[in-house]
Amino acid sequence: MSSEQTSFERKIEQEIAVEPKDWMPDGYRKTLVRQIGQHAHSEVVGMLPEANWLTRAPSLRRKAVLLAKIQDEAGHGLYLYSAAETLGGERHDLYEKMLTGEMKYSSIFNYPTLSWADVGVVGWLVDGAAIVNQVALCRTSYGPYARAMVRICKEESFHQRQGYEACRALADGSEDQKAMLQDSINRWWWPALMMFGPNDSESPNSAKSMAWKIKRVSNDDLRQKFVDNTVHQVLALGMTIPDPDLKWNEETGHYEFGEINWDEFNQVIHGHGICNHERLKDKRDAWEAGAWVREAAVAYSKKQMECAA
Ligand code: 3HC
Repeated sequence: MSSEQTSFERKIEQEIAVEPKDWMPDGYRKTLVRQIGQHAHSEVVGMLPEANWLTRAPSLRRKAVLLAKIQDEAGHGLYLYSAAETLGGERHDLYEKMLTGEMKYSSIFNYPTLSWADVGVVGWLVDGAAIVNQVALCRTSYGPYARAMVRICKEESFHQRQGYEACRALADGSEDQKAMLQDSINRWWWPALMMFGPNDSESPNSAKSMAWKIKRVSNDDLRQKFVDNTVHQVLALGMTIPDPDLKWNEETGHYEFGEINWDEFNQVIHGHGICNHERLKDKRDAWEAGAWVREAAVAYSKKQMECAA
């Protein structure tokens, strides 16, 4: 084993952050560019479902809160694209690979936001699931990714709380509002569980990611933590969970839950979900509409460099 490999292995073993200038195995770099790039794509595509309700928010306060959340997501995407760039993952190249479908983004964003309740439920359940995943990633072995996670998690907590508060208002509202909230939970509960990825036994990336301490907790363990955290929140709203197999296991201290529809999951992550085409069309249109801004910025920076020379 080369001295570089030995040094890398020691860093991983001793939980010393791997930094951009450190030697790292090609596979480690490739896995990180894949995961961080797809994480960034998830953030920027994740803006779309909620933006759909910006002009229809029920009050100025709700509109301002939703606007702040959407802007945060854009910032999370930029942090993560910057983290990917420290590994040589060039932003435009990653973005292009998302637009062509070569790279993924989180399945959850391929479901439609059909009511205002969805905006609350997405903030509460989707960002709640993201927090469970991202808190674990604060301990990921790659330094820039871990540091981006620490900052992102602080903002995710606001996202999750504002979503739950919006749901609380509906749960305390009219019968129609309660029904709208329950319908939303019924539609988003299982897609939220799918956010954590396939079962560990079906995950082609987990073994390596865990060995390199990129992934610190397995898909199934994170999913279980989310279910255990969230069931009592649903019940506190006076709502029910769309899973007849859900039950508390006193022995294990965890909730048991039903089987995820993995056919649906695989359909969605391979481009055949309800909103996949719409999401990528929106992103493609935005990319093309923004070309002049990128060209102007490049022209300006070139001019600046010429003047400085
Ligand atoms: N959606 C889309 N693709 C998914 C997926 C999902 N929910 N879960 C898994 N996949 C893909 C993986 O990307 C992989 O495909 P690839 O090899 O082509 O990349 C394949 O399914 C097999 O899955 P694995 O479990 O083997 O892959 P990973 O080891 O990468 O684990 C993961 C998947 C748990 C999502 C991991 O990549 C991860 O933790 N990513 C960082 C967190 C993240 O991306 N979260 C997405 C939501 S971000 C968000 O919600 C923002 C919030 O502010 C709203």
